[in-house]
Amino acid sequence: MTNTLEHIAVIMDGNGRWAQKRGLPRTAGHKKGAETLREIAKAAADMGIKYLTLYAFSTENWKRDKEEVDYLMDLLRRYLKSELKEVQERGARICFIGERQMLADDIVTEMERIEKETAANDKLTLCVALSYGARAEIVAAAKKVAALAASGRLEPEQLTEDMFKNFLYTAGIPDPDLVIRTSGEQRISNYLLWQIAYSEFYFTPTLWPDFSPEELKKIISDFNSRERRYGKI
Ligand code: IPE
Ligand code: IPE
Ligand code: MG
Repeated sequence: MTNTLEHIAVIMDGNGRWAQKRGLPRTAGHKKGAETLREIAKAAADMGIKYLTLYAFSTENWKRDKEEVDYLMDLLRRYLKSELKEVQERGARICFIGERQMLADDIVTEMERIEKETAANDKLTLCVALSYGARAEIVAAAKKVAALAASGRLEPEQLTEDMFKNFLYTAGIPDPDLVIRTSGEQRISNYLLWQIAYSEFYFTPTLWPDFSPEELKKIISDFNSRERRYGKI
């Protein structure tokens, strides 16, 4: 049996522990984790996955030490500059979801540039959740809906689930079929709360820097053996 698999969402967790196990600073884990990200994006595209959403930095991660946050932002800066060429060659589209107003202006400018320059690509959509929090996303959507209602352009009674989802950052992207979290933690950590209503979950003890295309293939084969019922019998 196989299930339709269009969209995989990943919680890339365990970078810090990967580094600590080796007596390295946590930042070394983030560096290795960024390499894993590149490898997994390539593998997903080769496997014909249409959408890959990766949790790179949560709204709650702003509370980490300044040193770690600064390192992650610098890694991101370098990444945004170095990856565009390869992304273009692979025909991938990049999009970002999250609270952009929290990010530095130069980073936002680069993000917008990449989104614009890859907008016409259709092989793989790589969606990066950056400064992302699902509750903040839902509240932002609710504010937009409330503003429409207040201005008389929407009757509250007319609001449907299909309309509401178009106010989320993920408008136009199908819901994840499969959510994978690495590092052994079995929680969602404020990720895509609306979108994962009927997703399948896979929790692996592997730390993100050790995650491999081979493991991704095994997880997909497990996913294919599951029966998705959506409340029916
Ligand atoms: C995931 O790894 C990456 C980010 C949250 C930025 P962590 O940094 O959370 O690594 P652990 O969970 O401390 O091992
Ligand atoms: C979730 O990981 C966020 C990302 C992977 C970017 P965390 O490490 O921040 O989550 P908690 O704190 O273990 O729930
Ligand atoms: Mg973590």
